[in-house]
Amino acid sequence: MSGIPFNNRAFELEADRQGRVVGLSALTPSQAGKLAERLAQIDPWKRLGQTPQAIEGVLRPPGPSAWSYLIRVEGKQAGVVVLRAPWLLGVYLNFFCVLPEYQGSGVGASVLRWLERESGRAFGNIWVCTSAFNKRAAAYYRSHGFARVAKLEDLIVEGEDELLMRKRI
Ligand SMILES: CC(C)(COP(=O)(O)OP(=O)(O)OC[C@H]1O[C@@H](n2cnc3c(N)ncnc32)[C@H](O)[C@@H]1OP(=O)(O)O)[C@@H](O)C(=O)NCCC(=O)NCCS
Repeated sequence: MSGIPFNNRAFELEADRQGRVVGLSALTPSQAGKLAERLAQIDPWKRLGQTPQAIEGVLRPPGPSAWSYLIRVEGKQAGVVVLRAPWLLGVYLNFFCVLPEYQGSGVGASVLRWLERESGRAFGNIWVCTSAFNKRAAAYYRSHGFARVAKLEDLIVEGEDELLMRKRI
């Protein structure tokens, strides 16, 4: 296994379907705090009752084996992606959101293609958990080559299951 491909520098990704520049930059603590307020109002985190503080805790990962990136479209804040690696001989997509006003334009696809390219240099798997009620997200990951490998009952809150999905790369 070669070195971890992620770091704190900025990345330029493929453009979205509107030809807009998509990029990633290391998420700052102040950006994490402001974004967490917004993300707590968006499903699946809203339905799961995740507080801004809880979300901020995920967005500001401690330690050397996690990376948080702000997703930028034409330089503007368009979402966030948090990665952990190594995780089960692969990379764990710990948090992924494209803000509603940027959804459906291929920004998420650009991020997933980048993640696969970078991960493939060192790992053979990408993992993600998605809430069972979040059927659009599960379908989205399936369309990007992920397959469900387990149902994790009551993982985040009682009565809500999470689906663990895997993409072999
Ligand atoms: C899932 C998500 C990251 C995809 O990013 P995106 O930039 O909207 O995705 P793309 O533009 O590459 O692809 C759009 C596809 O996503 C699906 N999609 C659109 N809005 C969506 C939404 N709110 N939630 C899930 N999937 C959605 C559509 O099926 C669409 O399919 P199509 O291309 O065949 O029309 C983004 O929609 C999102 O952040 N959703 C809300 C939060 C979430 O569910 N995150 C995943 C938690 S594990």
